[in-house]
Amino acid sequence: MKVDVLLGLQWGDEGKGKVVDVLTPRYNVVARFQGGPNAGHTLEFEGKKYVLRSIPSGIFQHNQVNIIGNGVVLDPILFMEEAIDLEKSGVDIKKILKISRKAHLIMPTHRLLDAANERLKGDGKIGTTGKGIGPTYTDKVGRYGLRVGDITSNFDQKYAAAKQRHLVLLNALGETPDIAQLEARWMEGIEYIKQYDIIDSEFFINKQLAAGKSVLCEGAQGSMLDVDFGSYPFVTSSSTVCAGACTGLGVAPNKIGEVYGIFKAYCTRVGSGPFPTELHDETGAEIRRIGHEYGAVTGRERRCGWIDLVALRYTIMLNGVTQLIMMKSDVLDGFDTIKACDAYEIDGHITRDFPYSVEEGITPIYTEIKGWKTPMSHLTSENQFPQEFKDYIAFLEEKLAVPITIVSVGPDREQTIIRS
Ligand code: GDP
Ligand code: IMO
Ligand code: MG
Repeated sequence: MKVDVLLGLQWGDEGKGKVVDVLTPRYNVVARFQGGPNAGHTLEFEGKKYVLRSIPSGIFQHNQVNIIGNGVVLDPILFMEEAIDLEKSGVDIKKILKISRKAHLIMPTHRLLDAANERLKGDGKIGTTGKGIGPTYTDKVGRYGLRVGDITSNFDQKYAAAKQRHLVLLNALGETPDIAQLEARWMEGIEYIKQYDIIDSEFFINKQLAAGKSVLCEGAQGSMLDVDFGSYPFVTSSSTVCAGACTGLGVAPNKIGEVYGIFKAYCTRVGSGPFPTELHDETGAEIRRIGHEYGAVTGRERRCGWIDLVALRYTIMLNGVTQLIMMKSDVLDGFDTIKACDAYEIDGHITRDFPYSVEEGITPIYTEIKGWKTPMSHLTSENQFPQEFKDYIAFLEEKLAVPITIVSVGPDREQTIIRS
């Protein structure tokens, strides 16, 4: 068997959590492969809403194993809070969740370093989620990191050394934090994690595949936030593209099967950084209002704009996307005209390839599409789609050269249309 990978093709918040939940019944295992509590994956069903940060979105369907892979960075405090909330809602999380020994731990001082780095950058700040993601991955690559597997051997010593190093860095940045309270809570989180099945997840997943079991890998963030291919430096610190599933779970490239690429029918971004199709006008505000475009974790306003086919073609290429999933189509139900950017004009030249620098001087070239002006949230089959919406799908499939196999028309699990 091969693993299927589901990931975001834009700047995050495409609706990954919802679709992972919908697809989970087709799989035996669901695994997160990168990122950490910078993610906020929203699921809605039976009138309830959940936001998951570190825990995979496969936990609400029954009988699946869920895995936090080695590529994930885990904050013991936030993990404990998230897991306890889920236990309160009746999810037997300790039974279904396994955690990789090789996942790195986010320390309280990582969060402080994240904040200090942002302060230092001033106007050039990235607008991070403040969860310590960058400093934790920096330590991982710098070979200073603490891993989940360290919890059981000489942990106090390892922790003290890592903390001491961070305090030196913080002092150099002019900070003298008192972390006693945060640290006590963090240690509670460490004790809590010990109650979970800590495994060598690379062996577990490969044995599952060899035994004919199916695995769905859940991406976090979006491909345009990838540390290599995103709008650097305004990116996150992990490989959010499909290759990240290989390194973040220990799955070989020839074991990748379907790659589901998720995108919104328009585009959003939260935090700083270039966004060529951003709308600073009333239309952008209307998309934000109708789409409730506010961060699931930070509550920050998401910047909104028209769909960007130049960026989408780029991320489809990087990920080897085999199926597209279009989210939040219903948000555009009331618009007379919808725009799609198919090329950029830069210094008088037209380009259809995503350029190295997207800082300034880009004029998006739009194709205008007639709106469908019909509410779609209650639709249950593609036969009911208004003709103009069918035309929009056909237009996107032609421009992106990959079939759109799932269309989402509302936040609920049920508001999902699988195309035949
Ligand atoms: P993720 O990080 O990719 O899982 O996405 P988020 O959960 O951060 O953001 C997606 C938001 O859109 C959430 O509030 C979802 O409940 C909501 N959502 C998902 N699909 C749809 C849809 O098709 N229509 C509408 N209106 N909302 C949706
Ligand atoms: P999900 O999984 C949207 C953005 C932050 C910031 C940049 C770096 O819910 O789609 P970080 O804290 O990772 O160092 O911040 O990346 N960002 C996200 N934006 N959705 C996310 O996750 C994000 N995770 C990080 O806003 O611009
Ligand atoms: Mg999100």
